[in-house]
Amino acid sequence: MTAITENRPSRHGPAGPDRSGDRVLTGAGGSLERHHEIYGPRALVGHDLIGMIDAAGLTGRGGAAFPVARKIAATAQAARRRHRPIVVANGAEGEPLSGKDAVLLHQSPHLVLDGLAAVAEAVGAQAAHLCVPAHRVDELAAIVGDRAAAGWDRTPVTVTATAGRFVDGETTAIVDLLSGGPGLPRHRVVPSAVRGVGGLPTLVQNVETLAHVALVARNGAAWFRGRGTAAEPGTALVTLSSRAGIDGVVETDLGTPLAVLLRRVAVDPTDLRAVLIGGFHGTWVDGRAVPRLALSARSLSDAGATPGAGVFSYLLRGERGLPVVADIVCHLAQESAGQCGPCRFGMPALAEAMTAVAAGAGAHAARRAITLADTIDGRGACSHPDGTAHMVRSALAVFRDEIGPDGSATGTTGGHRS
Ligand SMILES: Cc1cc2nc3c(=O)[nH]c(=O)nc-3n(C[C@H](O)[C@H](O)[C@H](O)COP(=O)(O)O)c2cc1C
Ligand code: SF4
Repeated sequence: MTAITENRPSRHGPAGPDRSGDRVLTGAGGSLERHHEIYGPRALVGHDLIGMIDAAGLTGRGGAAFPVARKIAATAQAARRRHRPIVVANGAEGEPLSGKDAVLLHQSPHLVLDGLAAVAEAVGAQAAHLCVPAHRVDELAAIVGDRAAAGWDRTPVTVTATAGRFVDGETTAIVDLLSGGPGLPRHRVVPSAVRGVGGLPTLVQNVETLAHVALVARNGAAWFRGRGTAAEPGTALVTLSSRAGIDGVVETDLGTPLAVLLRRVAVDPTDLRAVLIGGFHGTWVDGRAVPRLALSARSLSDAGATPGAGVFSYLLRGERGLPVVADIVCHLAQESAGQCGPCRFGMPALAEAMTAVAAGAGAHAARRAITLADTIDGRGACSHPDGTAHMVRSALAVFRDEIGPDGSATGTTGGHRS
């Protein structure tokens, strides 16, 4: 997996406002010395971090775009009533079309850990955790060890392996894993910020979010707002992929036109058949709409989509969408935790229905798929069925020309991507 970089600023100490270049993907790698050379020392801002993040307008980069300051403040407040909290860097990245967290943890692991240290100090945490796929644990534990030896962090950090399933990175699954469970999503009435790992207030933030936190702590809110738009400030990591696999990861300003992003991987937007925005739980958008859209919640809402975790997967003209969608639904059905009715029964039935639609079973099968999607929506302990249902509905609208009225699939080249 590669990062498609704009340029790599190398600087000592706090950075001034900049309008271009990569902020979090500057490639220090695992070397603490090199990290220090690029970004300067860690900023010790304590509880003031919350006000700085609020002024910066940073939102979570793990999918839901929730205001980060509100979550940190809620954890700090719950901690006053209960015990010292837990903070977690979520690097599970179970979404097969996303590679941004893996690239970030490879290129800038210290920035993520600086952000984790900053939120730990802001809420007075007793322990910090970094959750990553199993194959990254040794490498990142060694980096954490280097920092401890250098006295870089005040809060102890533990690196924990996730199982590599799609749902692993969902907040309640992370909390379950760190509480000694199998790491599956759980239905919770009380938010994790109030009662999470071991019953303690727990702050779970995506690793990219924490990298931005580290830079806001160093450089301030005005610096952060020097990129992106007034309503959606900052940069974000984006993973671009095609049927052939992931093209690469790009760091770009929020508000960047999608056409500009696609040109960075040499795709002419007029050649698009469709784009899946937001990954396997995302929204299919007709290629003709793409030149009007930008990487922002405001713009993408016109197409019923959100930036999510910055996942954009495109199909080119001449490629069929329904076989790709059927493969995704089959994957999602297998990846569910199998605890709730919609995942045990509805998801496999939906996978079967979409496989039939892709094979040319026609309008009747498509109507059955819609009915199944409507049935599972909102009925699970987590949003896995809802996200799947949303993706299927958008696919059946965008690829309706592939659904033969009487049972014959139309289109050109077939194609399964995963
Ligand atoms: C099925 C599912 C899978 C998720 N996987 C991840 C993941 O791999 N990494 C992640 O950071 N967030 C993931 N999330 C979102 C988390 O629940 C949570 O919102 C996020 O980690 C919070 O971090 P942020 O506020 O910094 O974005 C997932 C959510 C769902 C519903
Ligand atoms: S809805 Fe599915 S993925 Fe979510 S908790 Fe229930 S069984 Fe697990």
